[in-house]
Formats: sequence, structure tokens, C-alpha cells
Amino acid sequence: MGTATEQQVAPERSASPWWRTAVVYQVYLRSFADSNGDGIGDLAGLRARLPYLSWLGVDALWINPHYPSGGADGGYDICDYRAVDPDYGDVADLEALVADARRLGLRVVLDVVPNHTSDRHPWFAAALADPDSAEASRYHFAPASEEPPNNWRSLFGGPAWSRTPDGRWYLHLFAPEQPDLNWRDPAVAADFEKTLRFWLDRGVSGFRVDVAYGLFKDAQLRDNPGAYSPTLFGHGPEQAMTWNQPEVHDVWRQWRAVCDEYEDAMLVGEVCLADLSQVALYSRPDEMHQSFSFRLLKSPWDTAAFADGVQTALDAFSQVGAPVSWVLGNHDKDRQVTRFGGGELGTARARAAALMVLALPGSPYLYAGDELGLPQAVVPDEAKTDPIFFRSGGARAGRDGCRVPMPWNASDGVGFSPDGSAEPWLPIPADWDRYAVSSQVRDGSSMLTLYRRALALRAAHSALGSGEAVVSTQGDVLTVRCTGDGEVVRCVVNMGSETVLERTSGSVLLASAARVHDRAGTIALPPNTAVWLLED
Ligand code: NOJ
Ligand code: CA
Repeated sequence: MGTATEQQVAPERSASPWWRTAVVYQVYLRSFADSNGDGIGDLAGLRARLPYLSWLGVDALWINPHYPSGGADGGYDICDYRAVDPDYGDVADLEALVADARRLGLRVVLDVVPNHTSDRHPWFAAALADPDSAEASRYHFAPASEEPPNNWRSLFGGPAWSRTPDGRWYLHLFAPEQPDLNWRDPAVAADFEKTLRFWLDRGVSGFRVDVAYGLFKDAQLRDNPGAYSPTLFGHGPEQAMTWNQPEVHDVWRQWRAVCDEYEDAMLVGEVCLADLSQVALYSRPDEMHQSFSFRLLKSPWDTAAFADGVQTALDAFSQVGAPVSWVLGNHDKDRQVTRFGGGELGTARARAAALMVLALPGSPYLYAGDELGLPQAVVPDEAKTDPIFFRSGGARAGRDGCRVPMPWNASDGVGFSPDGSAEPWLPIPADWDRYAVSSQVRDGSSMLTLYRRALALRAAHSALGSGEAVVSTQGDVLTVRCTGDGEVVRCVVNMGSETVLERTSGSVLLASAARVHDRAGTIALPPNTAVWLLED
């Protein structure tokens, strides 16, 4: 794999700042690399693997929550926003990670969770102890009564209200261990500003903002007009009282102003709203730099769905002048290979989808392990940790299967932890040595090699990643025509079940399968395959 050459993060070269086209690699910290043998990934483990990320060719990493946590929701229940969970190391480890990353030309983006704290956060403890405390007004409490104050439901299942030991109700739109903050109390905003500065002063390059469409709730806590359903896009008008309140945009304006005081800080929001034009409003020029476009994460393998996912996002974000943040996988959804059909079929489609996303203009987010083609792991119920599994009484499988530790070496224990360590925090399937980095790194046909080649070409061709894109479909074929600096690259994806012939005036830059044939300007593209064509 070679050692990456050391380089400083480049200063902004032009009017186009780094985040507009950055390839961001999402590190699920607990599952990335364990340095001290306790079976839990940590900051020192990640730091030791930075040369891998630099070799792979990404620009930045986003690290899932690293804070001391109650452990009820994979770190998204935070007890102390200005500290590091001892499982992961300490603040000095984080500083060392950021410094090493910068030397390798990589930026580090942290996760921040402003919608809710842990129920073990000192504010919530004080609020429970004294209903009249200053801390109590930082959450949503309602007086003891028979019925909860309204019909709101938790996204993880069950009612959104639970009782305190003294009979009051408190609001939690996620697990009961995640009480929602009351952003109408100015002390909340003031404390988060301190948190942002704390980490920015330590050299991080911004934040992925959890539940950025939340924070404010209807001021009168009125009933939602419809029932929440965890289906395709969710979070539509039926949930109008809980999400997307207009006041929240002022928070992002304030956070943007804080980031603007730092050289390269950016915000990317998790905005799960059905209407992408509403999502884009979170990335107006004075708000967050990006907000995720989740359409492709939820699209079936289908030309119309993919074309719509791409076009709707391009249209919505161009209205506000923001780049699109493309997401094919993350720690909340089944792995792509499995979503697209599993096995060879799912792998072929995941390879093709990767080429499509890496061609598009904007900022793609790659989820750790997708570059290895990891499938959704089967996690035995007794090993599961996800509150979605527990709160649905086992009806929903939960998200553990996409959070299983990374396989690094095709040897005992797959190199996630040093030899002779504790068992990994989630069991790694017995056959995952076949996906290990060491098994793929010298294999010209591996998923890892495909990603590395694609990222290198994306960096070298301005049509890829930073140009203009025009999307079209013909039958089962989806084409994205990308232009930049006078260059044209067409990404053609065959989503059907028959080989298609495609004319080109140029040559194949990269193909997602070896079986793509190029003869006298005609490309034979097998099913579930994508190709990048550099046109003359
Ligand atoms: C979104 C995060 O991605 C997810 O993992 C978490 O459970 C919820 N927000 C609640 O914080
Ligand atoms: Ca560890």
C-alpha cells in the first residue's frame, strides 16, 4: 500500500473552497481500528490507519460521535460535549489525529448532536432533581398527568414522551435515554457555541450536524397531523409539529458565522425531510455549507429512481448555490451490496453505483467498509445493541449489521484488534477475511482497487466531481454527462438485465467490471455495470 507522502492541507486555491468537491470518508470510530486490544475501535487505531485513507485518495474524514456517552444509541446520547469517551482515548489523542491527518492532506470533521443529550448529561440530572432548576428549562418537561401532552412518536418506536421518577413527562424524539433539548432557552445555544469553538480551536475542519432539521418543536406542542411511518422518505407534512420549524435556520446562521471565523471549517447537516427543496434551504449561503442528499441511499436499483434521485438533488441544491452531498451508504442503512441484491449481483451493482456517484459534481460521502464491498452482517440478536431493535420488540432488525468492525488482514481476528485481544464489540462474520484490505489491495479486480482508481481519476479530471452534470435515461440505461474545463466524461450505467451497446467518440477511462468490451468506438456494457467514457 506504500506510505503516503506527507503534505499539508492545501490552502484554498480559487473561489472554490475545499468542501464543495471533497470526498469525505465516514469513520465509524468504534468499528474502525482497535489499538489497545479491548475490542473497541479508538482514536489511536484510526490515527495508525490514516496512511490507508490517504492512499485510498479521500480528502476528509467524518468521525461518528467520539464523546462520553450513555451508550444507548451508538454514541448519539452524549454526556459531555467537550471531552472524549475513554473507550476512544482523550483530547490529546484527537489533537494528535488531527495533526497527523493534516500532514497527510486530510481534514477531520466531527459529529455534533444538538437535538438531544444523554439522560446522563449533568443538565438532565439537575433537571430531574429540581423541576425549577435552570437546567429543567433546557429540556421539554410537562406536568404529571394521565396522558402525554400530545401524540408525538419516537422515531425509534413507541411514544415520544416518558415519565420522570416524580411523574412529569419529558420529550424524546429518539430513545428515552435521549431527552430533547429546548432550543428556545438561550443557554442551550450558548453552550453549543462553546462546544463548536472548543473543537475548532483544536484544528478540526467542521461538523456533521445530527438531526439538523430538529431542535425546535412547535411552540404549543400541538398534535402531529399524521402518523410517523419509518418508510421511504418519511418526515413529511404529517410530522409538521416536530421537525423543520422555521426558527432552526437562525441556529445554522449563527453556527455558520462561527465557522467563518476559522480557516476551513464546514457544516454538513443531516436533514431528513421528504422534500429536497426544503433540505436545500438548510444550505443557503449563510447557513450550513452542505446538507446530505439521502435519495440514493433509499433508491432501488432502477433507472427512474436513480435518475430522479440525482436530478432532484442537482435541481434543489443549485437553487441555493450549494454542492450536493451524495450518500450511498452510512451507519443507519443496510450496506449497499445487500440493498442491491446481495452476493455477486449486489457487488456488481455497488461497483457501478460507486462510479456513478464519484462522477457527479459535489461532495460524495463514503461509508467505511463500502470500499471493501462489505455486505450487511448478520448480527445475532443477543449481540445487538441498536435501540431500534429493542424498541420495536425485534420487529425491525436495527442497524448493527452495518456497524460491524473493519477487516484489515486476512488472518485470525482480521486485524481489527492486535493479536490476543478481547472479542470485538460486535462479532465479525467468520468469512470476512475475504473482504480484508490485505486480500484486496493487490487484486486489480477488487472493490478496493476500483475505489482507489476512481478516486485518482476523479482528482485528475475536472469533468469528474466538479463539473456540470446532465442526467438522461434510455430504457435501462442511465447516463450522466459530466463536463468541466472543456472535458467530457460520460458515466453510463446499465441497470437492466441485457448487455447494451454504447457508442463513444473516445475511450474507456474506467469500468466497474472486466467484461466491458471496447471495439472501434462501440462499448459492450454487461448488465449491472458502469463505465466512464472520456469523449474526444
Ligand atoms: C441520526 C444518526 O445518524 C443516528 O445514528 C442516530 O440514531 C440519530 N440521528 C439520533 O441521534
Ligand atoms: Ca480500543
